[in-house]
Amino acid sequence: MRRFAVIGKKAVASPDFSLDDLPGTSGRLDVLLRCVRAAMLVSHGIRRDVTVYLVLRGGRAGPRVLRIDGGEVQFLRPDERSLGALVKKALAHDCNEESFREVKPGIAVARGDIESVLADAPPSKVFLLEEGSIDLRSEPDLAAQDVLVFVGDHQGVDEASRCRLMAAGARAIAVGPTSIHAEDAIAVMSNELDRREVERFRAGALH
Ligand SMILES: C[S@@+](CC[C@H](N)C(=O)[O-])C[C@H]1O[C@@H](n2cnc3c(N)ncnc32)[C@H](O)[C@@H]1O
Repeated sequence: MRRFAVIGKKAVASPDFSLDDLPGTSGRLDVLLRCVRAAMLVSHGIRRDVTVYLVLRGGRAGPRVLRIDGGEVQFLRPDERSLGALVKKALAHDCNEESFREVKPGIAVARGDIESVLADAPPSKVFLLEEGSIDLRSEPDLAAQDVLVFVGDHQGVDEASRCRLMAAGARAIAVGPTSIHAEDAIAVMSNELDRREVERFRAGALH
């Protein structure tokens, strides 16, 4: 299983944003929606083995975490407006418990922050995508079957979150030498995980 968690520093945790002006009204939820597309959607399909967590720290309802489970979710479309509409409907539910509550098939909401993500995900190798750290191509743990990958928004990851993730055993890895958009970093990471999966499959088939 692959899990991606995107930390939205100001992304709103309530439905109080306009689909006609996502970047201007949602604390840049648009960045997180593009991350959902990059993590979960392939050409003509959904990656059923991927779960995405959106950590929404902004607005009157934050912090909340919205979880999208690729194995269960329905009607996930690639355009930002449709994804925004889906998230808006999910956030309209009054979920303020610390455990995740399903509000639509495959979509759940909980009150909380990165702690909720760490508690919800089953034991996994934890990574933080971070510019300037060790290159993912030299990271053997990427071959693990279960990975949980944290990603920053357009403003990057704050120091307190970074420290918490490192304390939880996360390894910082870079997807290349250039700082790129969060959704592109997820696409590169997914590509690398796809390659490692094929290698694992081939190695298994040979034994
Ligand atoms: C646009 S970048 C953040 C840039 C922000 N200005 C900063 O200084 O942190 C958004 C996120 O994408 C990921 N990212 C971007 N480029 C990366 C790279 N080369 N390697 C690993 N992660 C990267 C990181 O998680 C980063 O927090």
